[in-house]
Amino acid sequence: MADQRKRKVNTNLSVYKPVRPLRSSKKKWYAFQIPDVHRGYHVGLPSHDPMVWDVGMQALAHLAPRLTHVIIYGDFGNWESLSHWAGLRADQPFIEEDVAITIMGIEEINSIVDPHGVKKVFIMGNHEEWSTLLEAKYPILRNEINIVRRLHLHKANGWTVIPNNHFFKLGKSFHTHGNYPGARDAATMVKETGVSVFYAHNHTRTAHYFRNLEGVHTAQALGCWAMIDPPPPYAKAKLPSGWVHGFGLLQVRANGLFQCDYRTIIESSYVELPDGTEIVASYREAQRRLREERDTLLRLRREYSERYYAPEGRVHEIEPLKGTELRTRVQRARVHKQQA
Ligand SMILES: [Fe+2]
Ligand SMILES: [Fe+2]
Repeated sequence: MADQRKRKVNTNLSVYKPVRPLRSSKKKWYAFQIPDVHRGYHVGLPSHDPMVWDVGMQALAHLAPRLTHVIIYGDFGNWESLSHWAGLRADQPFIEEDVAITIMGIEEINSIVDPHGVKKVFIMGNHEEWSTLLEAKYPILRNEINIVRRLHLHKANGWTVIPNNHFFKLGKSFHTHGNYPGARDAATMVKETGVSVFYAHNHTRTAHYFRNLEGVHTAQALGCWAMIDPPPPYAKAKLPSGWVHGFGLLQVRANGLFQCDYRTIIESSYVELPDGTEIVASYREAQRRLREERDTLLRLRREYSERYYAPEGRVHEIEPLKGTELRTRVQRARVHKQQA
């Protein structure tokens, strides 16, 4: 009994001692993440969303002085002319039309970020990969549809090109288009790769976190800038219900750790940036771009008709491209009512 009385009782029930916080690491890189844009036209309709593009370009211009990188996640062009599905469709665009519309986007990005010395990364998507498949099948086309050459994505112009299914690495984050074999969603992407991956391809926004012995990894899908309604031909008449418009702002620290601030573009026309700046799509600017794109397409079609279909130089009057006007909100809800 006496021994028991002598024994000390531990009255301190809290055994938790906070560890010292990690030393903060300097911000090193700040990247603007552009998901699938799908620039191009099919049966006279844009497959990119002109309002979303305008919001994106305004946001890019606002952030450009602070950016170190702009990363394009592939499917930047829709490349309908190279599509193996296109043979089934009414209107087959020519490669020159796709190149012209896509390069307009590249040049706009160049004009915004080049004065600030921002590094530009172009990750090839599965739609760009169609050109590689054609080149492999018809080597004579190699120089004609070489996307790096046609879009002037050369190193001298400040571009780094990452082939389809390859990864760009920034700190401890990896970046790819997203059609990585076996990775159907964010959960399998992080398990297949074992690292943190940012990707697009599925046009939706998901974030999945996975902790293993090396720490926390994440896979994040970044949405798209593609036209959601009407759905593009490659959606094969499925309703793209999971698609979302947005972009990521990725901050990477000197120790490689990172944080992605994802901004959703609300109703294809509005976004608020982290510093509180509100950006609304400019209807006038979107219309100006659409007019420019339509004029370019018409000029090219005239050229084609002269060169290939009228050997004596006769110019065939061709139908103006329809459907490039911006649609109103009301037209978006396409509900079929019972006819009386
Ligand atoms: Fe895509
Ligand atoms: Fe894709």
